Amino acid sequence: MTADGRARVLADGNEIPVLGLGVWQVPEGRECEDTVRWALEAGYRHVDTAQAYGNERSVGRALRESGVPREDIFVTTKFYPRGKDAEAEAQRSLERLGVDYVDLYIIHWPQGGPTWAWDGMQRARERGYARSIGVSNFSLGELDELLAVADTRPVVNQVQFSPFEDRRALLDGCEQRDVVIEAYSPLGTGRHLGDDRVGRIADRLGRTPAQVLIRWCLQRDLVVLPKSTHRERIEENAQVFDFTLTDDDMAALDALDTTGGTDRARERKWW
Ligand code: A2P
Repeated sequence: MTADGRARVLADGNEIPVLGLGVWQVPEGRECEDTVRWALEAGYRHVDTAQAYGNERSVGRALRESGVPREDIFVTTKFYPRGKDAEAEAQRSLERLGVDYVDLYIIHWPQGGPTWAWDGMQRARERGYARSIGVSNFSLGELDELLAVADTRPVVNQVQFSPFEDRRALLDGCEQRDVVIEAYSPLGTGRHLGDDRVGRIADRLGRTPAQVLIRWCLQRDLVVLPKSTHRERIEENAQVFDFTLTDDDMAALDALDTTGGTDRARERKWW
């Protein structure tokens, strides 16, 4: 963790801001551009997109128009694993984003097995298209298969994570392997926000359920990627560095897990 608690140092030495904006299901065009612009205005310096989201052009436009220097923003995109060559696809992402490099390039999911795409990922890094490389939706077993053959190790694994999906064995295993977990859908795509137990903690702290769920991720040493297309929610979701959940709050939230502390990345696969 950096001194201000806003970034972590990855195993390859690169820094990643611990709070990022996720833009899954944000349609290309005005809505996506506004969303990214509002996030940058609210202080976010990390945007997480993907080839599969179809909105890299809008993300890139918003980054350029923001006036924030490129080197101050951490940009992630993901290799769509129905493509053949991760290196060639990285180049296409850079063209769509209108940037010279992304900060992080990850395999979106382990379709066809966890290792075949890695050679292209490593080439993308060697060519300077991506500063760091990693994976997403990899179980601990899949991560170990990859680590057994990788020359350059993956530095992150992006998975769905929240108190309700508290993949403790996956997190512990990733920490042992110096792989940072990034939590996508930390609000359970919105469905965890109405939970009474989360709501009671939020009320006591004078916070919102979204802030409590995001804060839980931060206190678990996760990088967290909440998504919203509403300006006030984007701002709300960034107000998570000025309060702390107590050990009792953390324990109460830990108790919400429905996965049995799994080392799996997904309960159901779409691939
Ligand atoms: P919207 O994009 O319409 O603002 P997750 O990050 O787990 O994927 O959750 C995203 C969902 O949660 C979206 O439907 C988003 O709606 C909603 N959401 C995000 N932040 C908040 C918030 N602070 N309050 C209420 N709903 C939120």
